[in-house]
Amino acid sequence: MKLEIFLIVFIRHVFAEDNFTINFIDSFIRNEGKPTILIYTGLCWGKYEEVKLAKVLSRSGIRCSSSTHRSSPIQDQHILFLTDLDCPGADDVLNDAMSTNLFQFPFRWLILTSVGADITNSTLWYSPILTDSDLVLAARSGDYITMTELHKPSMNHSMQSAPRGFHNGTFSDTRPHRELYRRRKDLMGTPIIMSNVIQDSNDSKEHIENESRLDLHNDAVVKGCWMVAKHSYEMLNATRRHIYSYRWGYKVNGQWSGMIADIKNNKATFATNCVTFPERLEVITYTDMVAPMRMRFVFRQPPLAYTCNIYSLPFSASVWVTIVGCSVAAVLALFFTSTWEVIMEKNPTQLDGTISDALLLTLSAVAQQGCFIEPRRAPGRIIEWFFFAALMALYAAYSANIVVLLQAPSNSIRTLAQLAASKITLGAADV
Ligand SMILES: *[C@@H]1O[C@H](CO)[C@@H](O)[C@H](O)[C@H]1NC(C)=O
Ligand SMILES: *[C@@H]1O[C@H](CO)[C@@H](O)[C@H](O)[C@H]1NC(C)=O
Ligand SMILES: *[C@@H]1O[C@H](CO)[C@@H](O)[C@H](O)[C@H]1NC(C)=O
Ligand SMILES: *[C@@H]1O[C@H](CO)[C@@H](O)[C@H](O)[C@H]1NC(C)=O
Ligand SMILES: *[C@@H]1O[C@H](CO)[C@@H](O)[C@H](O)[C@H]1NC(C)=O
Ligand SMILES: *[C@@H]1O[C@H](CO)[C@@H](O)[C@H](O)[C@H]1NC(C)=O
Ligand SMILES: *[C@@H]1O[C@H](CO)[C@@H](O)[C@H](O)[C@H]1NC(C)=O
Repeated sequence: MKLEIFLIVFIRHVFAEDNFTINFIDSFIRNEGKPTILIYTGLCWGKYEEVKLAKVLSRSGIRCSSSTHRSSPIQDQHILFLTDLDCPGADDVLNDAMSTNLFQFPFRWLILTSVGADITNSTLWYSPILTDSDLVLAARSGDYITMTELHKPSMNHSMQSAPRGFHNGTFSDTRPHRELYRRRKDLMGTPIIMSNVIQDSNDSKEHIENESRLDLHNDAVVKGCWMVAKHSYEMLNATRRHIYSYRWGYKVNGQWSGMIADIKNNKATFATNCVTFPERLEVITYTDMVAPMRMRFVFRQPPLAYTCNIYSLPFSASVWVTIVGCSVAAVLALFFTSTWEVIMEKNPTQLDGTISDALLLTLSAVAQQGCFIEPRRAPGRIIEWFFFAALMALYAAYSANIVVLLQAPSNSIRTLAQLAASKITLGAADV
């Protein structure tokens, strides 16, 4: 009889306790205000309690499951793991989590324990619960649960704890900020490695380390990035470490090279800003641009003679047509005057009144040469004089223009298509 009463009291006590814990879990998840899938593992509560937990949570619209199998990582940010350190299976759960990196972002953890249990020598204490981990330890004593957040700035640091709130029937959240990143701003001197790309001069390494601001034209992007990164180091209270590579990094035969390989192989945490390629997105995440960046061609304009025929350029087409027209007019005029001159007199050095002599004199004027036959009378000489004088002026203008055009650059290349179609050879160095 005594034993029965004791059992009944014991069972009622255990049930009442679990009711309190279940309510706490429910309040905890609702307080987070995030879509949540609860995965409970390593609990030794018994089926009845687990069903009750699922019932209470489903009333709040929270899914829960006891299977840790995840088919895809799409919903990882919704997952909250729940385990109870007082249960014998807890160590296995923590070891599993350690080997499959479940403590890191974006998973969340709620770990139950009881006040007085020494956890400083437990598996939990040696787990890689790093800065991005969101892990809450809930210690229960009677009807009071104290919540503590645990994390380590690095594996070499001891576990840091911060109060998160308490539950005494009503849930109370005492976090200074709800955002995780605002609560994890002090890395306590943890070294963070930055990969820098040195291409212009190996002296840049020393200039970056010493921040001496010398030779700013060498490796300007790297130095600019460091000036920005430096503020992040100060904000995070982290220790700077640099490694250097000589290439940005491309994927060749499935292997990454240079700076991208440093990040991929965990030699560095972050690196100099580099051009966004879709392929690189598999390996790295881009921050905002440190400086505005655009693709540009820098090339010297080729001389004009290289791109077009400069012999026809000094005069416009209408001037060339007019010159031809005037020449024809001069031939005809000389022809008419010479036929008249032949009637007046005959002389060996005068035009003989045929069109061929008129043409000969005109062409010698076009070529700026003299000719042994010439008009003897005033009308023909006036024509000859004007024609020679006009052509001389045109020659002077033509020669002056050619000299200017020979030195002029061409501005005919204005678009990429024109550049591609031009006779210029292009070279590129991709490092
Ligand atoms: C358990 O909690 C529910 C509210 O979720 C309450 O209605 C019920 O009375 C509690 N049971 C015990 C045994 O305290
Ligand atoms: C920590 O645990 C190990 C075994 O797991 C034990 O040998 C050691 O004595 C414990 N240390 C302390 C300080 O309790
Ligand atoms: C941790 O400390 C060990 C020895 O003190 C050192 O070799 C190791 O580099 C440190 N690890 C980190 C991440 O600082
Ligand atoms: C829980 O704690 C709050 C704040 O300290 C207090 O106001 C409230 O009365 C407590 N509730 C119970 C049931 O003890
Ligand atoms: C930065 O980290 C060092 C080393 O752990 C610590 O002593 C110092 O208080 C931290 N500074 C700030 C502002 O948190
Ligand atoms: C810098 O040093 C490395 C290794 O010693 C060398 O491969 C690289 O060519 C050097 N770069 C310059 C710009 O001198
Ligand atoms: C950079 O600092 C180191 C150590 O502080 C010093 O030995 C070196 O001469 C400095 N370099 C320059 C270019 O100032």
